[in-house]
Amino acid sequence: MFQNTSLVLVLLAAVFATATHAQLVGESCAPAACGNLTIKYPFWLRGRQPAYCGHPTFAVTCDDDDDPTGATAAPPPSLNGSYLRVLAIHYGNSSVVAYHANLVESSACRATRFNMSSSLALSLLDVSRANAGLLFSANCSRTPPTGSLPVNCTGFSGGGEWFLSLNRMYDPGGPKRAVDTVGCQYSVVPVLPWSELRSARDYAGLVRRGFLLEWTAVPGDCAACNASGGECRYDAGAMAFGCSCPGGRLQPATCGE
Ligand SMILES: *[C@@H]1O[C@H](CO)[C@@H](O)[C@H](O)[C@H]1NC(C)=O
Ligand SMILES: *[C@@H]1O[C@H](CO)[C@@H](O)[C@H](O)[C@H]1NC(C)=O
Ligand SMILES: *[C@@H]1O[C@H](CO)[C@@H](O)[C@H](O)[C@H]1NC(C)=O
Ligand SMILES: *[C@@H]1O[C@H](CO)[C@@H](O)[C@H](O)[C@H]1NC(C)=O
Ligand SMILES: *[C@@H]1O[C@H](CO)[C@@H](O)[C@H](O)[C@H]1NC(C)=O
Ligand SMILES: *[C@@H]1O[C@H](CO)[C@@H](O)[C@H](O)[C@H]1NC(C)=O
Ligand SMILES: *[C@@H]1O[C@H](CO)[C@@H](O)[C@H](O)[C@H]1NC(C)=O
Repeated sequence: MFQNTSLVLVLLAAVFATATHAQLVGESCAPAACGNLTIKYPFWLRGRQPAYCGHPTFAVTCDDDDDPTGATAAPPPSLNGSYLRVLAIHYGNSSVVAYHANLVESSACRATRFNMSSSLALSLLDVSRANAGLLFSANCSRTPPTGSLPVNCTGFSGGGEWFLSLNRMYDPGGPKRAVDTVGCQYSVVPVLPWSELRSARDYAGLVRRGFLLEWTAVPGDCAACNASGGECRYDAGAMAFGCSCPGGRLQPATCGE
């Protein structure tokens, strides 16, 4: 028992020492704005905040300075310069609404070659199971899912006639046990839970509204640090959370210690 406790103390001391060493207490990490989004831990605004204000996966690049007159709407901020464009961040339940630029800027027929799981290389962020799924099926050995709308993809890679339908549940691999799609070739794109598909033309609007992503396993309890009067920090080198407290002290969890 005594040995275990000492081990934990030694580990904590090591984490603390490493974090302190990286000097994460200089510039403030007060919440920043990009368009109408509030950027705060684990997100941080690349170019305007020090990298220690958040986790590397959650770097947000804001383009809202491109047109200072505001005449043309700036595109939503991208996540770490990727194809993911962030429309909303729900800090309360650790979720993000984002759309995939490649899906929005091209025809529905391109989605038939799309695999969201393989393009989401960003660790720590997962497509939420709460999403609905836009399902493309083709070459079905049975009749396609009821309510399917035909999409003519002649002329596209993997073209021919596809059928578009909406699944209330998003399953990244496609429907596992849906009898009516067995034998189909399929592709699935996540869309927001309450989406409705009335016509194949609804595709563009549905993908533009985005889909839900959830984050888990981000180190540290930022709410607790903040509640104790500190500012959250992330030391990418040490892969450790830190709480920057008044007077320039860096604590491993909260300022109360
Ligand atoms: C935030 O701005 C985006 C456009 O960048 C807009 O689509 C969205 O509705 C706005 N959200 C809120 C809550 O105002
Ligand atoms: C963020 O983008 C940079 C530059 O493109 C890349 O090197 C890095 O791996 C990305 N980080 C994450 C967590 O995706
Ligand atoms: C998180 O909360 C927001 C707003 O309350 C909601 O729109 C969103 O669907 C929730 N996210 C998940 C993954 O349930
Ligand atoms: C999508 O990609 C993932 C990861 O690369 C793979 O496991 C999965 O089988 C692919 N799904 C489809 C429908 O191709
Ligand atoms: C699909 O489009 C191609 C050319 O764009 C046309 O030749 C073909 O007849 C169409 N197929 C259907 C089923 O409408
Ligand atoms: C259907 O299967 C045929 C033969 O395997 C293939 O040539 C064609 O591209 C497939 N059509 C679609 C839409 O995937
Ligand atoms: C910390 O709390 C303040 C209000 O006390 C709030 O404005 C700020 O957004 C919080 N920061 C984080 C990262 O939650």
